[in-house]
Amino acid sequence: MESSRRGIVYWLLGGGLIGSLASFLYPVLRYIRPPEVAQAAVSEAEVGAVNQFPVNSGKVVRFGSKPVLLIRLASDDWRAFSATCTHLACIVQYQPERQRIWCACHNGVYDLNGRVISGPPPRPLEPFDVHLRDGEVIVSKRA
Ligand code: FES
Repeated sequence: MESSRRGIVYWLLGGGLIGSLASFLYPVLRYIRPPEVAQAAVSEAEVGAVNQFPVNSGKVVRFGSKPVLLIRLASDDWRAFSATCTHLACIVQYQPERQRIWCACHNGVYDLNGRVISGPPPRPLEPFDVHLRDGEVIVSKRA
């Protein structure tokens, strides 16, 4: 009788210990290896009304899950590039006073064609196409 009670206590303690370990390890493992997130391939995105973008301004907009830097240089001169710096993936920004694209992380500088002017970025920014349709700005992948 005594040994069966002891067996039940050991069984409960062991189950509790296994449960505690599992509840600790599961979130750690999910953090280390997150589940795959299915992402729909985006080839075009409507990013806002034309009048939301003043001349000589730049704004980071969403292209699916990616940030894109949309620049309006003149009323009919639009540029768009991946906003992810090719050095260490910081988000770049448009500097209207210098008319250039700048990465604040390590002072990387790109021209308005996305080419590297100075700093550590190893490659140019990926360009995107910009179209206007019914007063809306459309950014699309370059073919
Ligand atoms: S991350 Fe942009 S220059 Fe380093």
